[in-house]
Amino acid sequence: MSSILITGATGNVGLEVIRYLYQIDASNRIVAGVRNIEKAKKFFSDFPKLELVHFDFEDPDTFDNALSGIDRVFLLRPPHISDVDKIFRPLIASIKHNSINEIIFLSVQGAEKSKIIPHNKIERLIMEFGLDHIFLRPSYFMQNLTTTLIGDIKTKREIVLPSGKAKFNWVDIENIGEAAAILLEKFPDYKNQPYEITGYENLSFAQVTSQINRIIDNPILYRSVNPLKFLLIKKREGMGKGLIMVMILLHFLPRFQKEPKISNFFEQLMGKKPTDLATFIKREKVQFEKQPVIKP
Ligand SMILES: NC(=O)c1ccc[n+]([C@@H]2O[C@H](COP(=O)([O-])OP(=O)(O)OC[C@H]3O[C@@H](n4cnc5c(N)ncnc54)[C@H](OP(=O)(O)O)[C@@H]3O)[C@@H](O)[C@H]2O)c1
Repeated sequence: MSSILITGATGNVGLEVIRYLYQIDASNRIVAGVRNIEKAKKFFSDFPKLELVHFDFEDPDTFDNALSGIDRVFLLRPPHISDVDKIFRPLIASIKHNSINEIIFLSVQGAEKSKIIPHNKIERLIMEFGLDHIFLRPSYFMQNLTTTLIGDIKTKREIVLPSGKAKFNWVDIENIGEAAAILLEKFPDYKNQPYEITGYENLSFAQVTSQINRIIDNPILYRSVNPLKFLLIKKREGMGKGLIMVMILLHFLPRFQKEPKISNFFEQLMGKKPTDLATFIKREKVQFEKQPVIKP
């Protein structure tokens, strides 16, 4: 039995990791590191055995207590945190200080190629501290369609991005959760390697939009705009500047890059193919449908 701390537990990936950890081995002690225990109690009501501990990336005073008695950490970088030296250096030092030597970090596909992105800096930091590690490097989440992009889909029936014809590799977060759970369970067999988790399809937003339209009743549009126009649209809608910049980097840069590599690591690990986009869209169909207007 291992004691495993999950950070980012209430987020998209963290929740799936917890769900699959319980499915594969109910005997592990799983601890969710959360900012707000009361909110988390409600959020995790389906997981009565899950322990909760107060953990805040931005408050180093919470580190030691959260790490006490832990063997293995699942580390996730919350999207708004980019200052690696300020936030992650003290955290990794605390992990080491608490004699924890095993860490799985949710990185991103291609992290090794760009020294400026936070994921690359965090990977290097983990190696600098000499921790045994697994770097899980997923491609573009299918769930971006049902989280970041769903507002425009529901209200404007469109996806607006500066992506042109760029192709993205689409991965289902459930697949990331399943793979991470196995890697947490069998850490010694896989340690000190990076693993890319991808789906098998590289598709542009125009192609994805037509796949969605084949399945739903009220079609949506894909509108590619230049980065400046995107900035103006999103600023007018009240999106924070930091998030707008991340959205531009994530969606504009791929126009100038090679198509993403496709990895078969998930299939090797799990003995099944990753989710394809058509299956994901059918699963989430109700989210893409036009919402009925509710009269007062
Ligand atoms: N989107 C993509 O296509 C993609 C692809 C590859 C990699 N990634 C990487 O995946 C990561 C995001 O994963 P996700 O989508 O699961 O994130 P998410 O849904 O935004 O969840 C973020 C989690 O971090 C927690 N959190 C935020 N600030 C915190 C703090 N100060 N202290 C403690 N916990 C805090 C949140 O908890 P609360 O409930 O307290 O808010 C939440 O549980 C990022 O590093 C991103 O770069 C994303």
